[in-house]
Amino acid sequence: MKIAVLPGDGIGPEVVAAAVQVLQALGEPFEFEFAEVGGAAYEAYGQPLPEATLALTRAADAVLFGAVGDWKYDALPRALRPEQAILGLRRALGLFANLRPAVCFEPLVAASSLKPELVAGLDILIVRELTGDIYFGQPRGRRLAPDGPFTGAPEGFDTMRYTRPEIERIARVAFEAARRRRRHVTSVDKANVLETSQLWREVVTEVHAEYRDVTLEHLYVDNAAMQLVRAPKYFDVIVTGNLFGDILSDEAAMLTGSIGMLPSASLGESGRGLYEPSHGSAPDIAGKGTANPLATILSAAMMLRHSLGRPAQAARIETAVGKVLAAGLRTPDIASPGMRMVGTREMAAAVVAALPD
Ligand code: IPM
Ligand code: MG
Repeated sequence: MKIAVLPGDGIGPEVVAAAVQVLQALGEPFEFEFAEVGGAAYEAYGQPLPEATLALTRAADAVLFGAVGDWKYDALPRALRPEQAILGLRRALGLFANLRPAVCFEPLVAASSLKPELVAGLDILIVRELTGDIYFGQPRGRRLAPDGPFTGAPEGFDTMRYTRPEIERIARVAFEAARRRRRHVTSVDKANVLETSQLWREVVTEVHAEYRDVTLEHLYVDNAAMQLVRAPKYFDVIVTGNLFGDILSDEAAMLTGSIGMLPSASLGESGRGLYEPSHGSAPDIAGKGTANPLATILSAAMMLRHSLGRPAQAARIETAVGKVLAAGLRTPDIASPGMRMVGTREMAAAVVAALPD
């Protein structure tokens, strides 16, 4: 089993090293192949997603990704910015389904900014469409406004668009996932304003006809954002487009205490997948050895389950993470009084030591 490992920038290399260490401890015949991506690739090759990196990911059974981005690249033209690497990979590999589980581990209930009773037992799955929407829609660009009250003024524009097949396939992913959970799907859109969302709502409703054992409800995105902090446990599976999913998944992450805990899987048609922590490159703490590696370690568990056919190994990792948290180990992002503060390496070593047989 070949795993392409793309550590990237900021804390990416530290948290990815931690996850690789845990994977190596499982005793499976994994082959790891490393490549540069993001700012690291820009420094080495002048582009954020070099052809060699892309080729490696195409040849691999799964991709383990760290994070990309740093303030020092903010002035680069958009095509050279580190974020283009992850957007390019999603697009090139056809990774249209982004699964972002927001689970509140019991020992971390107090780390949430919400009251403990609101988040205890929280288990939401956000299914975010990842290769369409305003992220990739054409036309987009800069020009002088052709009409309106500010005709002739510099203008930026983007296009939100979704086709029926794109909506159908992400809806299926959500309904299938709901069948393995509590059988409730909330589809999030802005159908009171946007044409794209009206089509979204129609198509999700149609696909639902094939999944009568699952309940479906539609929420406008502003209301969904509010309900997420008012009564988060109400949700089971949330399915939404690329832009709304980007925003709501960060919000959901914070419900669990720290974005440093949240894994993600980005899946294509064939089971091919890219696995990355939901957090970013956190340049402010890069190189300090204090980053929380658990999101990446849990992403490795998702990889074992969704791309490598090793669900039992995934469960071993998840059990081990639960054990180290119950034992009181905390990186600074989830620190609380009376707990033992550890760094990235110590946390990874503790997960390895806690792996059940
Ligand atoms: C994410 C990130 C990316 C996105 C950025 C880095 C392009 O915020 O994975 O949520 O917007 O999708
Ligand atoms: Mg985001």
